[in-house]
Amino acid sequence: MHTVDLEVVLRGVDFIRRAGPSLAVSGVEYDSRRVRDGSLFVAFRGGTTDGNRFIPQAVAQGARAIVTDSSAGFDAATAYSEVAVIEVAHGRRALAALAANFFEHPEAQLKLSGVTGTNGKTTTAFLLEAMLRHQGRTTVLAGTIEYHAAGRVFPAPHTTPESRDLLELFREGVNGGATEAVMEVSSHALDQQRVSGLHFDVAIFTNLTRDHLDYHGSMENYFAAKRKLFDGSTGPPPRAAILNRDDPYGAMLEEAAGSELLYTYGLEQGDFHADSLRMEPSGMHFIMVTPHGKVPVSTRLTGGVNVYNLLAAGAAAIARGLTIEQVASGAASLDYVPGRFQAVDCGQNFAVVVDYAHTDDALRNIIAVARAFVTEKGGRVITMFGCGGDRDRTKRPLMGRAAGEGSDGVVLTSDNPRGEDPLAIIDEVLPGLRGTSAMVIVEPDRRRAIALAIAQARQNDLVLLAGKGHEKTQTIGRQVIPFDDVAIARQVLQGGEKNE
Ligand SMILES: Nc1ncnc2c1ncn2[C@@H]1O[C@H](COP(=O)(O)OP(=O)(O)O)[C@@H](O)[C@H]1O
Ligand SMILES: [Mg+2]
Repeated sequence: MHTVDLEVVLRGVDFIRRAGPSLAVSGVEYDSRRVRDGSLFVAFRGGTTDGNRFIPQAVAQGARAIVTDSSAGFDAATAYSEVAVIEVAHGRRALAALAANFFEHPEAQLKLSGVTGTNGKTTTAFLLEAMLRHQGRTTVLAGTIEYHAAGRVFPAPHTTPESRDLLELFREGVNGGATEAVMEVSSHALDQQRVSGLHFDVAIFTNLTRDHLDYHGSMENYFAAKRKLFDGSTGPPPRAAILNRDDPYGAMLEEAAGSELLYTYGLEQGDFHADSLRMEPSGMHFIMVTPHGKVPVSTRLTGGVNVYNLLAAGAAAIARGLTIEQVASGAASLDYVPGRFQAVDCGQNFAVVVDYAHTDDALRNIIAVARAFVTEKGGRVITMFGCGGDRDRTKRPLMGRAAGEGSDGVVLTSDNPRGEDPLAIIDEVLPGLRGTSAMVIVEPDRRRAIALAIAQARQNDLVLLAGKGHEKTQTIGRQVIPFDDVAIARQVLQGGEKNE
């Protein structure tokens, strides 16, 4: 068993007071359920629960050391005489430092690239990782869809993992020979110090739109959270900053950024931009104009927003030492990003696309992308979607309207109804569809809805299966059942779908 001396684990951690013995610990955990014999348990106050409540449970499971951000927690924990107890001012920040020490600083052996912004983080991170891997570099990826460590793939519970889990992933990667890590950095993560102590070599800013305002309160707070990655307030500023010049906040960051290397990008302006853009159903082609020359880029990704993602990833890859030709061949190597306008092709004469758009804005945008494909050949857009239960109800009619206005046909179904009656959710979507010219079919069973949407399609049409994207489950009541839009669409297209 890997054990580390408590004094080593505490290196660089500012603590208020401590009590109890000095000993060795066999793990650093913030989730009491994962505490094992010999663990150090970090108890901090989160948004909904207070980890300090779980100190007795952690001790019962064998915790040897408790780090707490509460003086009451400290006093309670010192009742266990054989347990080391340390009080810190900020639990999450301490967790990052403790875990980095415990996992023996894998972050110092990786060149880190971070992607932040409202939209495009997952895609840009996937693209950058693909470019680096295509040149034979061994990588770690942390983001919404999945985590990668030196070729192994893990499911992703959070876009940006808690610091401890990120450092464990880095350790896995470094043990497997990784030299690079690419990660999505959500604004929650910045706010919660999940990336505290990490030194980013490259930081990318995509854009900032009104999203997550429920959490951050105002655009100013939201921007302030994102800005931390660039201005050096959470650690040294990144060596290279990659900023979207077409976004007003990106332009503001140009002034704040303290980086040695600064690349801007934009559709038509910036150090990296696109020339002679051509979009086809099978992908896009353009000339990437860079400070190091021009290079033709062909990609299977499609849609205008992906030009931005390619430019951002390309600029970051150059900052990481690739040539423009290597950027182009890396871009061509990525077939798709799971659930991001992902085509399901079984040789049929119409397109089936899975995308995880699940807000009215995202739906409107993605349907417009779909429309651009079918227009030339006179095809139609058939959109299947649903609205989640136990979540924001105001968006239901808005999503109905977005789908109805953009599509020729709509199949209205379920998308994680959770504790609500699927038909009641559908009833709240329908008013938005009224008054649009789309033909509407209601089928609450999502599997049947996929089959129905595909059955409507004629040559040159596009069937958009929206809402789930890469997700692999459907939550009905309290049950989480396996569900995969891509797999079901494939079964339907191959004629294997039985009507149950
Ligand atoms: N650069 C971009 N600018 C604006 N919208 C984008 C961009 N990239 C992707 N999108 C849209 O946002 C959705 C989410 O993309 P994704 O790459 O998963 O971003 P994130 O990880 O930031 O949520 C996509 O389905 C697409 O419709
Ligand atoms: Mg993401």
